[in-house]
Amino acid sequence: DWNMEDVLEEEIKVIKELVGSEDHVICALSGGVDSTVAATLVHKAIGDRLHCIFVDNGLLRFKEQDRVMGTFERDLHLPVTCVDATEQFLSKLKGVVDPETKRKIIGKEFICIFDEFAQDLEKKLGTKPAFLVQGTLYPDVIESCPPPGSGRSHSHTIKSHHNVGGLPKDMKLKLIEPLKLLFKDEVRELGKILNVPEGFLKRHPFPGPGLAVRVLGDVTQGNALDILRQVDEIFIQSIKDAGLYDSIWQAFAVFLPIRSVGVQGDQRTHSHVVALRAVTSQDGMTADWYNFEHKFLDDVARKICNSVRGVNRVVQDITSKPPSTIEWE
Ligand code: XMP
Repeated sequence: DWNMEDVLEEEIKVIKELVGSEDHVICALSGGVDSTVAATLVHKAIGDRLHCIFVDNGLLRFKEQDRVMGTFERDLHLPVTCVDATEQFLSKLKGVVDPETKRKIIGKEFICIFDEFAQDLEKKLGTKPAFLVQGTLYPDVIESCPPPGSGRSHSHTIKSHHNVGGLPKDMKLKLIEPLKLLFKDEVRELGKILNVPEGFLKRHPFPGPGLAVRVLGDVTQGNALDILRQVDEIFIQSIKDAGLYDSIWQAFAVFLPIRSVGVQGDQRTHSHVVALRAVTSQDGMTADWYNFEHKFLDDVARKICNSVRGVNRVVQDITSKPPSTIEWE
């Protein structure tokens, strides 16, 4: 067990030495705990020679851009450029149904935007940024390049994660990975010392490809994204109100590309079906479905059908991992 105060002090020293007194550093913030803590740490070491970018890919949760930009600017005073690339991403995803293809498109678009950001910055500064911060954790390192004989070598081929690697190959940026030897709970502790708000540190993990892997099939179908955001927000808010948020590893809604028959008021409807997923887990590698009380589920389902136009049926995912994965795509 390491002391996080010591880790912080040591990391700041190492980063100061590594970056020196002139070089500039860039960082992509995802809105998640890891990149936020990594950036905050680097900011503490080198100040505004850190330049962050946050990309709204149009696949974020309800009010996500406002919420995370608020934390970055108000609470952490990080220098962040927010790029709204919704149209760029959604036009590329139109008609795409294969989950891996979605991931690849999203990864590629992200790199284009990041590249542009780095080039603009170079023009502005008159010098190339030399370093890139990544919020890679110890488990990411293991999962991406498993030690030989660890028996985990299959895991990284199941889905293409793009946390590790996947950045422009010709960019020639040196990596700063201050969390590379830490586990999630240690990163949270470090974040606390760095004054990252407690509520932010406890946020559930959220996949890089965002809601694209939670709208099954074409992400641009009808108003799927809008419906999903509303349903997800009701579900998460209900979980918070019930005091259950911190007991759950991840909870979210999934938009299903089917319609079912319902009766609302005295009208027959033919509307969308949404699924609710909540799991407990230690590390995301295995997971158990979370068993809500009957009354909680009943209230949530009613609330969703009453307030989200176009939804008349709510189902719950009662599979663990394995055999299922946590996400549906
Ligand atoms: P699965 O669905 O593989 O998810 O059981 C395990 C954990 O990883 C997250 N996840 C992703 N994160 N890019 C990410 O950054 C991805 O493509 C991706 N796919 C899944 C998932 O939310 C869960 O926490």
